[in-house]
Amino acid sequence: MRRVVFNQKGGVGKSTITCNLAAISANQGLRTLVIDLDPQGNSTQYLLGADGDALEYTLADFFDQTLNFKLNPKATGDFIVASPFDHLHVMPSHPQLEELQSKLESRYKIYKLRDALDELAQDYDCVYIDTPPALNFYTRSALIAANACLIPFDCDDFSRRALYSLLENVEEIKVDHNRDLVVEGIVVNQFQARASLPQKVVQELIDEGLPVLQPYLSASVKIKESHEQARPMIHLDSKHKLAQEFISLHDNLARKYGA
Ligand SMILES: Nc1ncnc2c1ncn2[C@@H]1O[C@H](COP(=O)(O)OP(=O)(O)OP(=O)(O)O)[C@@H](O)[C@H]1O
Ligand SMILES: [Mg+2]
Repeated sequence: MRRVVFNQKGGVGKSTITCNLAAISANQGLRTLVIDLDPQGNSTQYLLGADGDALEYTLADFFDQTLNFKLNPKATGDFIVASPFDHLHVMPSHPQLEELQSKLESRYKIYKLRDALDELAQDYDCVYIDTPPALNFYTRSALIAANACLIPFDCDDFSRRALYSLLENVEEIKVDHNRDLVVEGIVVNQFQARASLPQKVVQELIDEGLPVLQPYLSASVKIKESHEQARPMIHLDSKHKLAQEFISLHDNLARKYGA
């Protein structure tokens, strides 16, 4: 399964969800790859820690290679590094992705990520793609390359309204480029069960017939420690409520849609 985690809104939990679900897949023995398409590189930092600062090759080199065609190009696997966790590999981000974007767009390189993932199909059981908070070349590439889409949602009323245009954007890419793309659902994140507003906002989504996934992910300060130590929740504290919620979410998705 190739999953893209997408929401144009910033700070809703895309990187946190990508890395934690990927860590669980890998921990279950699935050969797992995280692709970090966000020039901010948060998933790269989260999974590689300080090792993420001194990488020989990154996704920027991968995309750059598509612009500067060579007769003996590097294989896609050359842009992948192993994380400290078993079975978990990363195609790391680099700030240079930002400046490459307009060239990639004008030279129609939108299918290159999909081609690369096709090349890797025998090497990985599951792929998770983290995206920047925008509908741009990288998010479009990811939505074209993936076969499933998860949408993190931060229980905010502005975000609720933005969900409709977001779903329309995903649908348009599906119709134009990727008929197999499935919106697996909305991941409710930073849910505060005791506050009434988040409950109301999420209930509205359900009443409107949107695919809200279970369980909701609790708000927890533990996630900051997890980022800071570069250890996904399952490795930091597997008994923690949020770690258990990630595991349930992961297993619900695997049951319904495959690993
Ligand atoms: N379940 C949670 N509980 C508490 N804080 C959380 C939770 N999930 C995410 N956060 C916090 O919210 C912030 C944004 O999370 P994250 O970086 O994963 O979002 P993002 O959507 O990837 O952001 P961006 O759009 O900038 O890439 C971080 O500071 C993170 O610590
Ligand atoms: Mg992010």
